[in-house]
Amino acid sequence: MKIRVLPDYDALSETAAAVVAERLREKPSAVLLLPTGTTPLGMYRRLVALHRSGALSFARATFFNLDEYLGLPPDHPASYHVYMRENFYGLIDSDPARVHVPRGDALDPEAECLRYEAAIREAGGIDLCVLGIGRNGHIGFNEPGAPFVSRTRVVRLAESTRRVNAADFEADRSPERAITVGLATIFEAREVLLLASGANKAGAVAAAVVEGEVSENIPASVLRRHPKGTFLLDEDAGSDLGGGLAD
Ligand code: PGA
Repeated sequence: MKIRVLPDYDALSETAAAVVAERLREKPSAVLLLPTGTTPLGMYRRLVALHRSGALSFARATFFNLDEYLGLPPDHPASYHVYMRENFYGLIDSDPARVHVPRGDALDPEAECLRYEAAIREAGGIDLCVLGIGRNGHIGFNEPGAPFVSRTRVVRLAESTRRVNAADFEADRSPERAITVGLATIFEAREVLLLASGANKAGAVAAAVVEGEVSENIPASVLRRHPKGTFLLDEDAGSDLGGGLAD
C-alpha cells in the first residue's frame, strides 16, 4: 500500500482523474468499480472534461458501482443511479450495456446481489477500484464489522452513516439498508485507489493506515494488505498521520 498526500482537493481530484485516464489509455476495455459521494465529484468533472476535449473515450470500458440504497428505484433523486447518470455516465460516451449499478428496487435483493457479483466475475474482475472512505472507516457500504470475506450483499447502514446521508432524504426517510459490493470483491481488484479529502476524514484515514492492526472494525484497513493499493489524500485528510507515513 502507498500513501500520496496532495496539497488540496483540486490536486487530489486532478491526480485521481489522471490515474483513471492513464489506466483507460493503457487498456481501453478496463473494468472500473466506482464510488458515489462528495469526494469523487472533482475527479468525475475532470474525466468528463477530458472526454469533451476529445482526449479520452470510455466507449469500451465496463463500469460497476459500489453500492445503492435498498428500496430506491433508479429514478429516485437520491439514488446512486441518478447520481452517476448526472455526474458521469450521462456525460461521457459510456456504453449503457456495460454500465452496472445495483438495483435497489429489485424484487429479490438477494438474487440481485448474486447477479451483480456474477456480472463482475463475467467481466473478468475489476481492473481499478476507486473508493471513498466514511468517517467510520467504511468503504462502499461495508460498515465496521463487515467480514473481509464478504461479497455483494444486503447490509444494514450504521447510524452514523444514516445521519451523514440524511440530508439527501426527507425527514426519517433515509434508507436503513443498502446493497454493497463486499470487501473480498474490492480487495480482488487489481488496483485500488482510495480518495479522502478534508479534516473530517483524518481520524478514519489514520485508523485505516497507521493505527492498530488491520481489523474488520476499520473496513478500509484491509487495503494495507493490497499489493497495488493507494491512499490518495489531501493534506487535511492526512493530518493525523504524523510521522507514521509508510509506503
Ligand atoms: P463522501 O462519502 O465522499 O461523501 O465523504 C464517502 C463515503 O462515505 O464512502
